[in-house]
Amino acid sequence: MGRLEGKVAIITGAAQGMGAEHARRFVHEGALTIFTDINEDAGNQLAAELGERSLFIRHDVSRESDWQTVIDAGEKQFGPINVLVNNAGILGPGVKTADLAEADFLKVCAINLTATFLGTKHVIPSMIRAGGGSIVNVSSISGIVAIYGTPNSAYAASKFAVRGLTKQVAIEYGEHAIRANSVHPGYIRTPMMTAALDEDQIKVASGSVPIKRVGEVEDVSNLVVFLASDESGFITGSEYIIDGGLTAL
Ligand SMILES: NC(=O)c1ccc[n+]([C@@H]2O[C@H](COP(=O)([O-])OP(=O)(O)OC[C@H]3O[C@@H](n4cnc5c(N)ncnc54)[C@H](O)[C@@H]3O)[C@@H](O)[C@H]2O)c1
Repeated sequence: MGRLEGKVAIITGAAQGMGAEHARRFVHEGALTIFTDINEDAGNQLAAELGERSLFIRHDVSRESDWQTVIDAGEKQFGPINVLVNNAGILGPGVKTADLAEADFLKVCAINLTATFLGTKHVIPSMIRAGGGSIVNVSSISGIVAIYGTPNSAYAASKFAVRGLTKQVAIEYGEHAIRANSVHPGYIRTPMMTAALDEDQIKVASGSVPIKRVGEVEDVSNLVVFLASDESGFITGSEYIIDGGLTAL
């Protein structure tokens, strides 16, 4: 029996990168999996690979009206939702704070933070109908420490705030058997990373990690499956750093 048998899950930003791997693992572990993204082509391609235990929906996480559509369509097809993985995220421009436009700051916050709030807000009634659930919010080590040499105050602000939002939701909804935890990846090889760093820079990054490599999407999926499953039933309001030891330095 799969570790996510009986679960109905929504994973955002899942057409590529970590989210796509989470979707693969969720289906493999028995979850009925709704995965969403703004990238329709890549989403439809993954849906063809994953088959009828999955449903792809085009979804801009920063639009509140899109959330109700996703939850209604997901419930109609598979039943009440008991797992939400708020994974979609963007980096934003890598410029120092005095050079950062307000519009760029707000855009990063809309996708990384406000969308996590919106997803949580709209999924809770469905989770209560399901008898409980698990919300997994993907933050970053940038939600734990500031990263020297990579200016990105919008990203840091949004990822720190996701951590606080997670803890507040955990204490508000524990009585409904709804858990909420945050995940804080370090360097993980995804299109987001390869867009920001070339192979030489990835080598340098690997050398700075105590485990001497960057993470792979599978590393993070192992953690997300655990947090989504009943194996983590007494874990809520916690943050999980997955960075090969980088922030332990
Ligand atoms: N890769 C890393 O090293 C790393 C490290 C720490 C945290 N993270 C976080 O992990 C998560 C996944 O990152 P990734 O590396 O897989 O990124 P990625 O860029 O490879 O994939 C992100 C996905 O989100 C989608 N997306 C972007 N804006 C969206 C929107 N408005 N609505 C819906 N979908 C949208 C993109 O289309 C894309 O498919 C993000 O929250 C990111 O901040 C990544």
